[in-house]
Amino acid sequence: MRTHYCGDLRRTDVGSTVEVCGWVHTHRNHGALIFLDLRDHKGLLQVVFESENATVFACAEKLRNEFVVRVSGRVQHRRDGETNPKLGTGEIEVLASELEVLNTSEVPPFALHEHIGIGEDVRLRYRYIDLRRAEVQQRLRDRASIVSQIRRFMEAQGFVDIETPTLARSTPEGARDYLVPSRVHPGNFYALPQSPQIFKQLLMVSGLDRYYQIARCYRDEDMRSDRQPEFTQLDVEASFVNEEEIMNLIEAMLVDLFKVQSEVDLGKFPVIGYTEAVDQYASDKPDLRNPLKLVDIDDLVTDCEFNVFAVPARDSQSRVAVLRVPASVDKLSRKGLDELVEFVKEFGAKGLAYIRVKDRSAGRDGLQSPVLKFLTDSELSEILDRCEATSGDILFIGADKSLTANVFLSELRDRVAQDLDLVQEGFYPCWIVDWPMFELDQDQCYTPAHHPFTRPNCSLAEFNSSPYEAKAHAYDVVINGYEIGGGSLRIHDLEMQQAVFRVLGISQEAQVKFGFLLDALKLGCPPHGGIALGLDRLVMILTGAQSIRDVIAFPKTQTASCSMTQAPSEIDHAQLRELNLTLSKKGR
Ligand code: AMO
Ligand code: AMP
Repeated sequence: MRTHYCGDLRRTDVGSTVEVCGWVHTHRNHGALIFLDLRDHKGLLQVVFESENATVFACAEKLRNEFVVRVSGRVQHRRDGETNPKLGTGEIEVLASELEVLNTSEVPPFALHEHIGIGEDVRLRYRYIDLRRAEVQQRLRDRASIVSQIRRFMEAQGFVDIETPTLARSTPEGARDYLVPSRVHPGNFYALPQSPQIFKQLLMVSGLDRYYQIARCYRDEDMRSDRQPEFTQLDVEASFVNEEEIMNLIEAMLVDLFKVQSEVDLGKFPVIGYTEAVDQYASDKPDLRNPLKLVDIDDLVTDCEFNVFAVPARDSQSRVAVLRVPASVDKLSRKGLDELVEFVKEFGAKGLAYIRVKDRSAGRDGLQSPVLKFLTDSELSEILDRCEATSGDILFIGADKSLTANVFLSELRDRVAQDLDLVQEGFYPCWIVDWPMFELDQDQCYTPAHHPFTRPNCSLAEFNSSPYEAKAHAYDVVINGYEIGGGSLRIHDLEMQQAVFRVLGISQEAQVKFGFLLDALKLGCPPHGGIALGLDRLVMILTGAQSIRDVIAFPKTQTASCSMTQAPSEIDHAQLRELNLTLSKKGR
């Protein structure tokens, strides 16, 4: 139907007769001349209609935005003063000799050149219109190119792309399952995979040696800007490997990817122990673009008369930590400080103490703080020494149960760095290693820090004698504060796997749910390990998008629904009957 793409035409095409197809982006009627910006996926092209060609001109007069047309004409230079250096096609235009309207369009719900200010709900309801925008399309094209780059890399390293089932049994990744009722097995349900974890381990038992997959995963969990109910992982598993080999492979893959896609050299990734990360950044996914660090002072305030500090300082499950913000005394007013105190309260803090170090050399007199009166001279000077405070700094002090303190201190660290413009440009990756096997959740229950197939970094005897102290052979890769991926060496020894299930109190349940995996461990399972990277998050970071919704063609909203198709939706009685389901009450 066409000889050229609109956005491809250049000066060198002047004089040629061309046929182009696309959408009317804008149209301007100047009386004797009509100008169109015609758009296809390659860009915009100016088309001009002259009134001398009366039939075609009459047809052009009826054009409206988003009509789909085919134009034949001759490429010519634009008139003097009418060139547009911002457009690839900005030096030329097509003088139309024929026009065919391939389809009309009603007025679109939003104009493509005026999308700013249009709510995301409207853009998602008419996602196919939103996707006509070059910027949005470009992210999908970038995503495709990232995926092919990853595939090339993995295949060059001998990894085989293998599909695993999506109608499966529950896989324990810590979220709720999406369930699919079975018609032929009344009362039974498939679970959509939270990840291909168990299948990829079984592929190692089979001797496939090196597996990868761009795998769709499903998790029913609270939405955030970096979470979707269905998302994509680059899922990887290999046999006869150690931790370093997996980390080196993935690091090399990411270095290659960022070099090709963004011309950025990620360099060698720093490796940070889990404990160090939490101590310094109050987070297991630190944003290293932010230079601020925390310092613990529990041991300095255990005996102080201020119970807000002393009580948590004496409790092993609490912490008292200082965030030193250099040269900030003149940048953060009293009002600004009060706002920060209110801000951390939104994240569970009972309060936030601060010390303004006006003049370090003047001792107590050089300091301003609501908590000054509770601290002795020596306590104050030890705190200042520990934080290496200098004149002009502000020290924020948070004290609480570690679970709570880490949440608000990490938020505070992010917020202060943003407010004071301290966040560096660029990509800051790191590995987080030496994870504990188990973490205490809000209900004081032990849960796996990764998943229950992660191999402890100790012998079975050591694990059995102090399971909660055990470290894991696990590693996460983090870029700019986003957990991009997580993985581990797996348990290949039946007794160790049973011991982990026992500690989690799921021995019986595991026998029912993962009996097939336990059987496989008895039948020559090689040592193996792997990782999964969140592809959507990776693409979001590489393309500079604000949310993973921006790099998914048809994403779900914050309430896990699709505003375009209205999924999830009710189903009719016949379907329910066929699936042997009855609804107890209408959920909504
Ligand atoms: P994990 O649960 O850490 O590990 O998931 C791996 C990576 O997937 C991404 N991710 C998500 N992305 C978008 N939306 C979500 N809801 C979502 N949940 C997770 C994250 C995360 O780092 N089977 C293990 C991997 C392994 O051990 O090999 C697993 O799934 O970037
Ligand atoms: P109060 O005695 O509760 O008025 O608190 C005195 C100071 O301690 C105030 O500046 C509070 O913001 C601060 N504060 C209260 N609770 C905490 C906490 N958990 N961590 C740090 N500072 C706190």
